[in-house]
Amino acid sequence: MGIKLFFEAIFLFGSLYMLARAEPIEDKHALLDFINNISHSRNLNWDERTSVCNNWTGVTCNHDNSRVIAVRLPGIGFRGHIPLNTLGRLSALQILSLRSNAFSGPFPTDLLELGNLTGLYLQFNNFQGPLPWNFSVWKNLNGLNLSNNGFNGSIPSSITNLTHLTALGLANNSLSGDIPDLNIPSLQLLDLSNNNLTGVVPRSLLRFPSSAFVGNKISPETSQPPVLPPTAQPKKHSSKFSESAILGIVIGSSALAFVLIALLLIVTNRKKADEKAIAVKSEKKEKSLKRTTSERHDTNGKLVFFEGCNLAFDLEDLFRASAEVLGKGTFGTTYKAALEDATTVAVKRLREVSIGRKDFEQQMEVVGNIRHENVAPLRSYYYSKDEKLMVYDFYDLGSVSVLLHAKRGEDRIPLDWETRMKIAIGVARGIAYIHLQNVGKLVHGNIKASNVFLNSQKYGCVSDLGLAPLMSPITPRIMRTAGYRAPEITDTRKVSQASDVYSYGVLLLELLTGKSPVHAVGGEEVIHLVRWVHSVVREEWTGEVFDVELLRYPNIEEEMVAMLQIGMSCVARMPEQRPKMANVVKMVEDIRSVNTDNQPSSETKWPGSTPSLIPPVAQIGSSSVS
Ligand SMILES: *[C@@H]1O[C@H](CO)[C@@H](O)[C@H](O)[C@H]1NC(C)=O
Ligand SMILES: *[C@@H]1O[C@H](CO)[C@@H](O)[C@H](O)[C@H]1NC(C)=O
Ligand SMILES: *[C@@H]1O[C@H](CO)[C@@H](O)[C@H](O)[C@H]1NC(C)=O
Ligand SMILES: *[C@@H]1O[C@H](CO)[C@@H](O)[C@H](O)[C@H]1NC(C)=O
Ligand SMILES: *[C@@H]1O[C@H](CO)[C@@H](O)[C@H](O)[C@H]1NC(C)=O
Ligand SMILES: *[C@@H]1O[C@H](CO)[C@@H](O)[C@H](O)[C@H]1NC(C)=O
Ligand SMILES: *[C@@H]1O[C@H](CO)[C@@H](O)[C@H](O)[C@H]1NC(C)=O
Ligand SMILES: *[C@@H]1O[C@H](CO)[C@@H](O)[C@H](O)[C@H]1NC(C)=O
Ligand SMILES: *[C@@H]1O[C@H](CO)[C@@H](O)[C@H](O)[C@H]1NC(C)=O
Repeated sequence: MGIKLFFEAIFLFGSLYMLARAEPIEDKHALLDFINNISHSRNLNWDERTSVCNNWTGVTCNHDNSRVIAVRLPGIGFRGHIPLNTLGRLSALQILSLRSNAFSGPFPTDLLELGNLTGLYLQFNNFQGPLPWNFSVWKNLNGLNLSNNGFNGSIPSSITNLTHLTALGLANNSLSGDIPDLNIPSLQLLDLSNNNLTGVVPRSLLRFPSSAFVGNKISPETSQPPVLPPTAQPKKHSSKFSESAILGIVIGSSALAFVLIALLLIVTNRKKADEKAIAVKSEKKEKSLKRTTSERHDTNGKLVFFEGCNLAFDLEDLFRASAEVLGKGTFGTTYKAALEDATTVAVKRLREVSIGRKDFEQQMEVVGNIRHENVAPLRSYYYSKDEKLMVYDFYDLGSVSVLLHAKRGEDRIPLDWETRMKIAIGVARGIAYIHLQNVGKLVHGNIKASNVFLNSQKYGCVSDLGLAPLMSPITPRIMRTAGYRAPEITDTRKVSQASDVYSYGVLLLELLTGKSPVHAVGGEEVIHLVRWVHSVVREEWTGEVFDVELLRYPNIEEEMVAMLQIGMSCVARMPEQRPKMANVVKMVEDIRSVNTDNQPSSETKWPGSTPSLIPPVAQIGSSSVS
């Protein structure tokens, strides 16, 4: 009895301690003071008794739940003045989005206390009066959108001090006076349209399109250069000109007129074709996430953000974004979505998730907290009954699959050996790190060239990890992944670290040969890359294995052969014969140091073979194939 009580007490204190530790009490009070002093039409689940970090709509905390770092409350139906001394107390706040409400009153000057703010979104409200003069307190601000309010007075020159600004939206206010010389190189998006601004467009802003300045009283002379219209206007001009020209010439020479009419027809036809192309393109864009707009108010859904995500977006943004399809993968379709602060993210919409919310969230926690330079960070995810989304960084250069295979046979920039080495090293490091997570049990489960990107140092970086166990099993007939799948894997959910090693081996062979894991040769015959490499190596044609694009680089043969050996040991038929990923990292890193230790003979020619190096490769080949 006494002991039971003792344990109960410990349990109680333990949970109290956990509760107290797991939330920023002062930030919570600031938010409660805010919500209790402002009228709003949509109900928020901000219950004092629940955790501000886990359960409050629109609130994001930092990693250890010690501070609130983002508040996103678009379209909640707020009206009236923002109560003073409430939001201004959230001193660690990085993102504040209150857009599309009906806030009124002057600019909330307490927000100037928030020195760590990176994004402030107040567009579509009824704020009035002047902008604060001391913007420069927000040293880290990169997105500022105050458009569609009633701000008046001039644009404060202190905006010039916001050296990290990437997007500035002040459109549809009543701002007047001159445009300050905003010499901010990082600025990518600017909109000052529909105000009452006067003077000229300063030199530093001439790089922005004229649409950024329309609807003002900017004097035409100096603003002429940026206002120079885009292609549409001259086109109109020239066709008008030819019309009158035709009229003149028809009277004189009918032959010439005939030629001109033909020309005119071509011009108009081309214009029509252009329009058609644009229409098709925008139609393609429309095929976005929008189609589920009706489901988005799904009651139990919540966008969960991971640490380090200072992107400003909410669910509405993801659904509204003009998403472009980037690719259809094994587990779902990936879209490119442009956000309001001029950044771009990749949104993956999962199909056929077969596990419940709890298990899903648990797996996301594991995956989302991985931070390694060779693992593409998961920024955020969303789970509801009908919709599961994952948000990743967007990589401009595209996947390794694109870099390696796109436009083959055409005019393309070859993927050089140096980059292929860095891809191999980076991916190995990334997978090895993943294999250490979740007490050494985490599996990537979907390694393939289209899931590998280049990080800022151009090393490989793996994406899309840890999804296999969440999904319904996929029939092995899906060809593209089939080439990477280890032979022992019959159920796509039951992947293992050894099967990751196999897939990595296939990726190495792909980098070396420039061939897709499953490719058709000649007519119908489908070749499996691993089998093909084995057969070529067995026939002692090692030189023929390598991508012709690599033949132009001198002195790399030894490195290529060394990588081929590693690749072949990874694709060993029996899982227990494959090396562990940590060893693979050592091996690929050693390729370069071995090579610099003993200088290769520079006169070896390609596509010949290097006799001394073939035997070990052939050995590995025959031992693992039989
Ligand atoms: C807001 O309302 C709370 C009651 O919940 C009150 O205690 C507090 O003083 C108010 N704060 C402000 C800033 O008006
Ligand atoms: C958070 O909300 C969910 C329902 O949305 C509820 O099941 C859960 O108990 C809440 N957590 C806490 C700590 O109140
Ligand atoms: C603001 O950011 C800096 C740098 O990231 C950090 O050291 C500081 O603690 C932050 N301030 C608050 C109040 O969180
Ligand atoms: C900024 O200016 C406002 C008045 O416009 C003032 O109330 C506030 O104290 C100033 N804040 C800082 C940090 O200078
Ligand atoms: C801004 O608007 C307010 C009324 O909302 C007015 O009193 C004030 O004079 C205006 N200021 C300027 C510079 O137009
Ligand atoms: C920019 O910041 C510096 C130092 O923080 C300050 O002295 C200067 O007045 C600011 N410039 C403007 C235009 O506010
Ligand atoms: C500001 O927000 C509006 C509405 O959300 C958007 O259309 C506009 O592109 C944004 N402007 C900038 C510069 O971010
Ligand atoms: C400004 O208002 C006009 C007219 O209401 C609208 O067409 C335009 O999209 C608005 N601009 C922005 C940036 O919201
Ligand atoms: C623009 O300024 C003129 C005076 O210069 C004023 O009459 C007009 O109301 C202003 N328009 C807006 C939209 O603020």
